[in-house]
Amino acid sequence: MTQNLSALLPIVKAAPVVPVLIIEDVKTAVPLARALVAGGLTALEVTLRTPAALDCIRAIKAEVEGANIGAGTILNPKQFDEAVAAGSSFLVSPGASPKLIAHAAGSPVPLLPGVATAGEAMFLLEEGYGAAKFFPAEQAGGAPYLKALASPLPGLMFCPTGGVSLKNAQSYLSLPNVMCVGGSWVAPAAAIAAGDWAAITTLAREAFELRAA
Ligand code: 3PG
Repeated sequence: MTQNLSALLPIVKAAPVVPVLIIEDVKTAVPLARALVAGGLTALEVTLRTPAALDCIRAIKAEVEGANIGAGTILNPKQFDEAVAAGSSFLVSPGASPKLIAHAAGSPVPLLPGVATAGEAMFLLEEGYGAAKFFPAEQAGGAPYLKALASPLPGLMFCPTGGVSLKNAQSYLSLPNVMCVGGSWVAPAAAIAAGDWAAITTLAREAFELRAA
């Protein structure tokens, strides 16, 4: 199987924004996920950048109704398998290494791999991919750059991530080759540390409403 798009697209297109989460303390995982889902954001990317990440995925999977968990920052096949075993519904990587792409080919759990150039995008098309993360979006050239890829590469849809915020998200969401955006701005570290779940729900709701703009 190549990328399982029929599993991936309903998850990432359920809302315009996929929160990118860096969770230090597993005790905050469930209330954080509930706060985001309450604001309408249901596809949550839990990055494997903290020792607690896999436990966080397991906890959210067990306790938060309506959440679809993506494991982010997948760099190798071992992390891929651990994240799938923890209950991830999709996986996200910052780039598209041949080893990771070969490993993902055998999995029903879809991978959303990162690209930043036309050549990397062509590699994914050759591998049968229909969706990718555009990373790091703002640093690589932002919405005008991604717009320029739409005409020559119509077969690939993107989730721009990296430097995306409430201010610039709409410039991406209005492009024909964008299916959603990703960003950490909806879950600021300070609000997580303070347990300010109401503030996070407010940020999530604002992000959810981008769809209509
Ligand atoms: C990612 O992990 O995909 C990005 O680092 C998120 O970028 P942001 O923090 O600029 O939203």
